Amino acid sequence: MSFSSRIPNFYNLSIEERRKTIAKLLQLSEDEITILEDRSVDENNLNIMIENVIGKLSLPLGIATNFIVNEKEYLVPMVIEESSVVAAASHAAKITRKTGGFKAEYSGSFAIGQIQVINVQDFDLAEKNIQANIPKLLEIANSTNKILTKLGGGAKDIEIRRIKGQFQSYLVLHLIVDVKDAMGANAVNTMLEVLKPEIEKLTEGTILLRIISNLADKRYVKAEAIFDKDELGGKDIVDKILLAYDFANNDKYRCTTHNKGIMNGIIAVLLATGNDTRAVEAGAHVYATKDDGYKSLTRFSKNKDGDLIGCLEIPLSIGILGGAINVNPTYKLALKILDASNVEEFACVVAAVGLAQNVAALRALVSEGIQKGHMTLHARNIAMNAGAKGTKIEEIAQQMIKENNISFDRAKEILQKINI
Ligand code: MEV
Repeated sequence: MSFSSRIPNFYNLSIEERRKTIAKLLQLSEDEITILEDRSVDENNLNIMIENVIGKLSLPLGIATNFIVNEKEYLVPMVIEESSVVAAASHAAKITRKTGGFKAEYSGSFAIGQIQVINVQDFDLAEKNIQANIPKLLEIANSTNKILTKLGGGAKDIEIRRIKGQFQSYLVLHLIVDVKDAMGANAVNTMLEVLKPEIEKLTEGTILLRIISNLADKRYVKAEAIFDKDELGGKDIVDKILLAYDFANNDKYRCTTHNKGIMNGIIAVLLATGNDTRAVEAGAHVYATKDDGYKSLTRFSKNKDGDLIGCLEIPLSIGILGGAINVNPTYKLALKILDASNVEEFACVVAAVGLAQNVAALRALVSEGIQKGHMTLHARNIAMNAGAKGTKIEEIAQQMIKENNISFDRAKEILQKINI
């Protein structure tokens, strides 16, 4: 499908008009539009997702516009409760269009499954036995998933580690599995289970834990972009962004918030597409410690023209099939809107959103501050609390912002006037 993700004035359309615009661009069916209206999710589907279901919670699903990643246009679905995030990502993505958008690379979907062997008497012998039997162990692991191996994926290698604990030392095996387009936790965990008897025989130890690791450092993506200095607001803004980045890199209190801003974008795309957001969040923050101390997941510099060069490297255990995706039609539709033909493409877009989000937050922080953007939501909330409904909410919010007087009393006054 070829279209431009640049949709001028999208922001100002009504929800209905936005739905129509996206449906037209992506040729969505009537049924798919119904899914967007959230009228089609069957309670029975929710009931198989988790236990003790009593209802569902709606969150807004927005579209970030303007993304070009590896020369392809993307409309990016995002689910988040925080205002300004979708607009900020779209804005930063727009800035990159001038220089061709984002370039991104994916490492491949190599998941790590861990096996903890306890009560090992002879570590050297256990290690030697495992080393000599890696092909056989891989074959056993792969026997659990013919589909994955047919696709060229499956268990590829075993790494051996020794971990010294407080109570004893452990032999820890890492099963490296190419999970292709799936998140892969189930596939990996099943492989780990089936290896138990053979590994216990080879190590003369006992297997305790067997579980995927959420530090997916063999499954990462790198996204880069150039942010034109004039579109960012000038040379001064670029210099200030570099100082803000320097602050994050040298102070963990600031860096946590800086990286949280990146995750605002990433988690929103993952929530929209049925991915395990906790796995990615946990992995990302540990990955930020891979060089000396807790650092920014992004890196920034200036090019010779004074434009900002941004780069994000992040591990992403994500998928475009399996798991919860099958259960909720909205996830499937969000993936259709994003239109990634494989997980590599998907991961590249997710990382581009994270980088865009970080640049947008830093740009706002070093210029007008972050509160201005948040004021709109605050004003809308006050208008609603004062009794406004429908289009009146926005009307009253905008007037209060213009007057720089956002208060319950003022909202009531304006509402009374409108209602006369
Ligand atoms: C708010 O959700 C995210 C920011 O705090 C990120 C940052 O400070 O860089 C604005």
